Amino acid sequence: HYLRKVFSGIQPTGVPHIGNYYGAIKPWVEMQDSHGNVILSVVDMHAITMPGGEPKKLRQNIQEMFASLIACGIDPEKTILFQQSAVSKHAELGWILGCLTTMPRLQHLPQWKQKSEALSEVPLGVFTYPVLQTADILLYKATDVPVGDDQVKHIELARDLANLFNKKYGETFPKPKPVVGSFNRIKSLRSPTNKMSKSEKDAKSRIDITDSPEVIREKFKKAITDFTSKITYEPTDRPGVSNLISIHAAFANSTPQKIGEENSHLDTLQYKLLVADVVIAGTAKIREKFAEMMRNKEYLEQTIQLGNDKARQIAEETYKEVIHRVGF
Ligand code: ADP
Ligand code: NA
Repeated sequence: HYLRKVFSGIQPTGVPHIGNYYGAIKPWVEMQDSHGNVILSVVDMHAITMPGGEPKKLRQNIQEMFASLIACGIDPEKTILFQQSAVSKHAELGWILGCLTTMPRLQHLPQWKQKSEALSEVPLGVFTYPVLQTADILLYKATDVPVGDDQVKHIELARDLANLFNKKYGETFPKPKPVVGSFNRIKSLRSPTNKMSKSEKDAKSRIDITDSPEVIREKFKKAITDFTSKITYEPTDRPGVSNLISIHAAFANSTPQKIGEENSHLDTLQYKLLVADVVIAGTAKIREKFAEMMRNKEYLEQTIQLGNDKARQIAEETYKEVIHRVGF
């Protein structure tokens, strides 16, 4: 008996790459345009969980992420697009939910194992952020949560916590379900057996959605392929060339098999330049719109504020219900 509502968050990592675009942003735009009822948060509170990070850079990354999302087709009139930290109920509900779960429950999460192993001293936020993630979702009574497959366990936690809350305090929250897209990950241009990622140091490994034509051409020229100068789609044996084909297929809205066959007559360098041209053309509108947003910071800031107000209204309503049930 709950309305279908989509919630998703994205960390303010600055300008997204084409993997983020096809894997996350484009599906959101499609949901926005087909069903509507999409709530999208730039989750800056999650961005400070890992050590390091610099306030000036974070502020810039937040703006760039908003500008990127709008440039990619998120329409702030149709979608509630907001900044997590501007809605204080996320932290407040996070506290209440934290009181309903246990340390062993959180210790079992694979992301915790991975992240804590890589750190000599682990900030508390790295341990508890899945609870904050649950609050992000439940505050809006979201039913559908588009995520990458690495986040499915966190949505299971959100389901468990919704359940626990409902059992203890009375029916309040729908049980959110993860929506894992079918899009195959775009691979790194420099190490094509790994996914394209912001975390890879070499910036030539990824194409950002606002890269200039020159930069895009340069990155494709330097893309790792192999010693066969022939275009075939063989993801296992020829990951580099196959990744170029997959990128081409994504932009051409076609299949890698078809694109592979259509371009089998080209040699590797010719093909790299062709894919570069396809990506340059396919990102032209995004590049333009992004630049326009960054030129007009006042409009951008105002748009963020309006989104924050809409989110805050819903969050405060839910929270009122929550504290009444809890007995505050
Ligand atoms: P990154 O590795 O660049 O930091 P994140 O892990 O923050 O990316 O993921 C943000 C969103 O983009 C997630 O929904 C994730 O599934 C998607 N995504 C990230 N990298 C890729 C990729 N290479 N191909 C497709 N989708 C991706
Ligand atoms: Na990552």
